[in-house]
Amino acid sequence: MDFSGKVVVITGGASGMGAATAREFARAGARVVVVDRNTELAGQVAAELRADAISGDISHSSFCDSTIQQTLNRHGKLDVLVNAAGIIVRARGEATSDEDWNRIMSVNVGGTFFMCRAAIRAMKGRGGAIVNFGSIWGDLGASGVAAYCASKGAVHNLTRALALEHATDGIRINAVCPGEVNTPMIKSERKEPVTPELMQRLADSVPMGRLAEPAEIANMVLFLASDKASYMTGSLVLVDAGFAAR
Ligand SMILES: NC(=O)c1ccc[n+]([C@@H]2O[C@H](COP(=O)([O-])OP(=O)(O)OC[C@H]3O[C@@H](n4cnc5c(N)ncnc54)[C@H](O)[C@@H]3O)[C@@H](O)[C@H]2O)c1
Repeated sequence: MDFSGKVVVITGGASGMGAATAREFARAGARVVVVDRNTELAGQVAAELRADAISGDISHSSFCDSTIQQTLNRHGKLDVLVNAAGIIVRARGEATSDEDWNRIMSVNVGGTFFMCRAAIRAMKGRGGAIVNFGSIWGDLGASGVAAYCASKGAVHNLTRALALEHATDGIRINAVCPGEVNTPMIKSERKEPVTPELMQRLADSVPMGRLAEPAEIANMVLFLASDKASYMTGSLVLVDAGFAAR
């Protein structure tokens, strides 16, 4: 896929699947803008890819608006937005604090919405593509991650609703829904120690018997953002090695 001359903004671009996606877009010739609240890591990925870095918190709409405005000021347009920034809270519903509930909703749902809204305003009249990060847990329930499941379910239906609103504007909006992926998130916020046995248990829970590597998800993001996906909008695309097929 060729993204030469295309301007691509990627939230969560400092780590995991966002960073893998930034690398694949850069390899395909895009002008990449890495957006992340982790200033140091965002700077490292941007330096590696000769990309721009913008650091801040996507749960603030003013930051999202200014990120898109800075991109327009520097590159004159926006072709693709990828919303990979996200967090997880590992707690059963009954043990989830107000603070954790509000935090995950404001990042995973609010941040995704604010970035979509700012990007759509910039894309109107010229078209573009948006790829959100959903999850198998946006469709399936799981014990111990109730707020995360709720937040990803919201991202799925936000994706569908925005896609319908812009179906005739040349703005395609889809979501990639990964299964278990080998990124820092899969090890984070766990109450039990992250041992090789735990990682093996996670791999064994997947029909293919292994975690995904971040690039395997990034490939789908590039496809959805490309002209090859010209007839796709409002789709939630599972990349999960059969996890949700059961
Ligand atoms: N790892 C998995 O197994 C998995 C599976 C399905 C979906 N997902 C989703 O994929 C996306 C990427 O996850 P990952 O596993 O690569 O995670 P990761 O933790 O490696 O990367 C997430 C990045 O988002 C950034 N971020 C978090 N909150 C932010 C905020 N408020 N403002 C700006 N940046 C912020 C972090 O600094 C980090 O760099 C997330 O939306 C996640 O929920 C992950």
